[in-house]
Amino acid sequence: MEKREQIYEGKAKKVYATADPELYIVSYKDDATAFNGLKKGTIAGKGVINNRMSNFFMRRLEKAGVPTHFVEELSERDTLVKKVKIVPLEVIVRNISAGSFAKRYGVEEGIRFDEPTVEFSYKNDALGDPLLTEDHIRALGLATREEVGRIRAMSLAVDRELSAFWQECGVTLVDFKLEFGKTADGTIILADEISPDTCRLWDSETGEKLDKDRFRRDLGGVEAAYAEVMKRMLAHD
Ligand code: TMP
Repeated sequence: MEKREQIYEGKAKKVYATADPELYIVSYKDDATAFNGLKKGTIAGKGVINNRMSNFFMRRLEKAGVPTHFVEELSERDTLVKKVKIVPLEVIVRNISAGSFAKRYGVEEGIRFDEPTVEFSYKNDALGDPLLTEDHIRALGLATREEVGRIRAMSLAVDRELSAFWQECGVTLVDFKLEFGKTADGTIILADEISPDTCRLWDSETGEKLDKDRFRRDLGGVEAAYAEVMKRMLAHD
């Protein structure tokens, strides 16, 4: 399958049409942004790692019963996916306090919750991705009650699978962001990516950050952290 016209360019990926109207090709870039695009940079080799890692987890999640957009890895950076209409929600699952949760509620990072929390924000860069309640989601017509229920259940299933996998790798899954899409027949499936860009991954022994927070917070060693989690992931296949 070959790329045809570019449909969309996001901050970290490009999306292309293919000869099949039901399929797109996503192409992962090394570009990195943070703070709604205010901070810009490059993480060398990130596109290759994020493509491979995301596909690795999408395959595992399919086996675990979570439907995803994944079809076939085409090359280091390119993957064939099902065409979906993205539901404009950023779904964040948190196991441990960190990031915007810690900041918003004035708590320290690193507190493990009794159960995972699911939160939604409106995927809208112009508005800065504001937090949404489930009532707000329905009021804005972004998804129905049933759809939100399915998205929530799938997100918690992803958390169970990923948390268990990363634990075997000596990595703690702190939190992550998912996006879902709708196929032509209205089925909701997992889309976007699962990578160190979209997950907080801490070394279970030392607490060292092995994800995009190294870029967001200017901690250095960004490429090395992405390479480290990739190495651990491959070692536990
Ligand atoms: P937050 O604590 O900044 O809200 O981030 C929660 C998780 O979501 C974290 O793993 C990073 C991820 N994330 C994204 O993937 N994209 C984003 O635009 C933001 C803000 C967070």
